[in-house]
Amino acid sequence: MFFKNLTLFNFKNFEALDIDFESGLNCFVGHNGAGKTNILDALHYLSMTKSSVNSIDSANIKFEEDALLIKSVIEVNEKKHLVSCSVQAGKKKEVKVDKKEHEKLSEHIGLFPLVMISPSDTDLIYDTNEVRRKFFDIAISQADKNYLHHLIAYAFALKNRNVLLKQYGETGRLDSDLLQTYTLQLVEHGKPIYKERKVYLRQFLKFFDHHYASLQSQNESVSIVYESQLSEGEPEILYKHSLQKDKIMQRTAVGIHKDAFLFNIFDKPLKRHGSQGQQKSFLIALKLAQYDLLASQKSLKPVLLLDDVFDKLDDERMQMLLKKVTHETYGQLFITDARPERTMTLLEHNQLKARIFEIEKGKVQTTTDYEPTQK
Ligand SMILES: Nc1ncnc2c1ncn2[C@@H]1O[C@H](COP(=O)(O)OP(=O)(O)OP(=O)(O)O)[C@@H](O)[C@H]1O
Ligand SMILES: [Mg+2]
Repeated sequence: MFFKNLTLFNFKNFEALDIDFESGLNCFVGHNGAGKTNILDALHYLSMTKSSVNSIDSANIKFEEDALLIKSVIEVNEKKHLVSCSVQAGKKKEVKVDKKEHEKLSEHIGLFPLVMISPSDTDLIYDTNEVRRKFFDIAISQADKNYLHHLIAYAFALKNRNVLLKQYGETGRLDSDLLQTYTLQLVEHGKPIYKERKVYLRQFLKFFDHHYASLQSQNESVSIVYESQLSEGEPEILYKHSLQKDKIMQRTAVGIHKDAFLFNIFDKPLKRHGSQGQQKSFLIALKLAQYDLLASQKSLKPVLLLDDVFDKLDDERMQMLLKKVTHETYGQLFITDARPERTMTLLEHNQLKARIFEIEKGKVQTTTDYEPTQK
């Protein structure tokens, strides 16, 4: 699949934008704060129905304005679709495909798959388990609608069960039947989520190990370990054993919402024992594995967004990465760089053709179709 163009109205620092893309490599260069990441974020919106940066939709409307619009013609298996997203202050967000609005936003997820690598990915290493769980949840959901439905239903049951436990803490009264209903819902939806996370990670690791190994030449050993309470026994029994604790804590202590994904280098936490370059390589391998798995599950090539990806990588890793992502296994590619000369050198060195957009203060200054000079 690929984005043929992009139209923006009042999206972040873009008042109006109308650009056509290459089906291969597109580069955005310009100073810090110019709007490079904002363009990638608009593409993210059209794929995932939300910003990768700011989850509050209204914060993405240009300052002083009251509505934003993002539009693109996206080609999938030789069929063109007009995809649009509009946000108006105080109104429901609208995501449309060929002018038809989805009943639920979740219906849109997975139709136009995309993977983004960005500087904020370091949150995956430094932040809590919740962030890592969310990464895998999004990755699995893009390819598996059922998984997403289980997640939504699980979150709903968990919220209700916790409200009940909190009320019990405050009033001393507990509706045991209702609690049991919610517990059964957690079991019903938790089991397939646990199973799918296990299966997904097993497949994921094959791609991940391969990518990490090919981004460095020093035999660094890295791993991802999945830990779940559900591996300790039947969930029905776990909930029974935990009931007393749940009542005291006034929240649900057992379930897949407590699952952990551990990121290790040399069997130690990557957070404390990985260099910046190793951490970055880990994150890139992680996202490329997500890409590969998504591509094989969807039988199409998702779009790949690389935001500021060359920073912190040494020349060798930078070359290896570019070689990899411009290989034919990948489809349309978007790259941002605040250092245009670095991008030009990389294109020249790798003999790559690209459309280069020079961005300045929310505007495209120049568009150049770059052809490498024959060596
Ligand atoms: N809602 C908004 N309305 C207007 N401008 C906004 C809004 N949200 C963000 N901006 C502006 O967008 C700009 C940031 O754009 P962006 O993050 O795309 O920059 P960038 O080119 O990627 O820079 P860098 O090289 O530092 O990553 C900032 O100037 C910021 O003030
Ligand atoms: Mg940026």
